[in-house]
Amino acid sequence: MSKAPVAPPAHVSGQTVPDFSHSSLPRHVAIVMDGNGRWANARGLKRTEGHRAGEAALMDVIAGAVEAGVEVLSVYAFSTENWKRSPAEVKFLMTYSRDVIARRRDELDSWGVRIVWSGRPIRIWKSVNREFEKAVEQTKHNTGTVLNFCFNYGGQAEIADAAGKIARLAAAGKLNPETVTAETVARYLYHPQLPPVDLFIRSGGERRISNFLLWQASYAELLFLDLPWPEADRLTLWDCLLWFGGRERRFGTAVDRVSPAY
Ligand code: IPE
Ligand code: IPE
Ligand code: MG
Repeated sequence: MSKAPVAPPAHVSGQTVPDFSHSSLPRHVAIVMDGNGRWANARGLKRTEGHRAGEAALMDVIAGAVEAGVEVLSVYAFSTENWKRSPAEVKFLMTYSRDVIARRRDELDSWGVRIVWSGRPIRIWKSVNREFEKAVEQTKHNTGTVLNFCFNYGGQAEIADAAGKIARLAAAGKLNPETVTAETVARYLYHPQLPPVDLFIRSGGERRISNFLLWQASYAELLFLDLPWPEADRLTLWDCLLWFGGRERRFGTAVDRVSPAY
């Protein structure tokens, strides 16, 4: 039996969640939490202090997603390419992500958040894996916002892993390669039940995807913010959700709207 969720604490400004009932809300929001290192360096601090400051931003944005009723929030915490950073920074990111999940697990659980993890298990420290597993297990019956914590995650790796699973089934005679479609591939992603990404946000000023949710974001609306991640909060998220409500999504279709002026 899961317990009734409690509301997250209010935003420091006292501002409450806007009424989204008249605009379309994205089911799945993906965030590249970028700009931590530059934010810290610009303040005369080491890069790792930027990661540290990102924790409060993450918790506030999750609170905002819960309040707005976003179904899935995917956050990019460590990419398959981030191993190229200095050993000290990689070590910090391992330890820090593990500790954030460990110390925030009960709070997220109390808000009704279901935590899932996306990524490759190889190379992740055992103690980090253990904390992720604990959080997933503890929150698995929650029915609120899903927090998809992407750690040692790469979009290409996820698609390659799906291709590998399909190839193994085909080699074992359990799947006919002639019948493979996009839907087949989607079934072998890390979390096939999650809906496609509707809104893809990247903080930190760069206009790139950096290998995040390549398959799932194929029709996402892209929003690039100059704001560094440590300065983001739920108000930032709500602004993004309002912007999304004004987008016209076409998914390849077209509408004739001849201008009356001609
Ligand atoms: C994003 O911030 C966090 C991770 C990649 C773990 P960065 O560390 O990339 O910060 P910048 O982009 O160098 O400022
Ligand atoms: C993307 O940011 C990865 C995460 C936020 C975890 P990066 O900072 O690693 O991306 P690039 O290297 O600037 O493309
Ligand atoms: Mg970066």
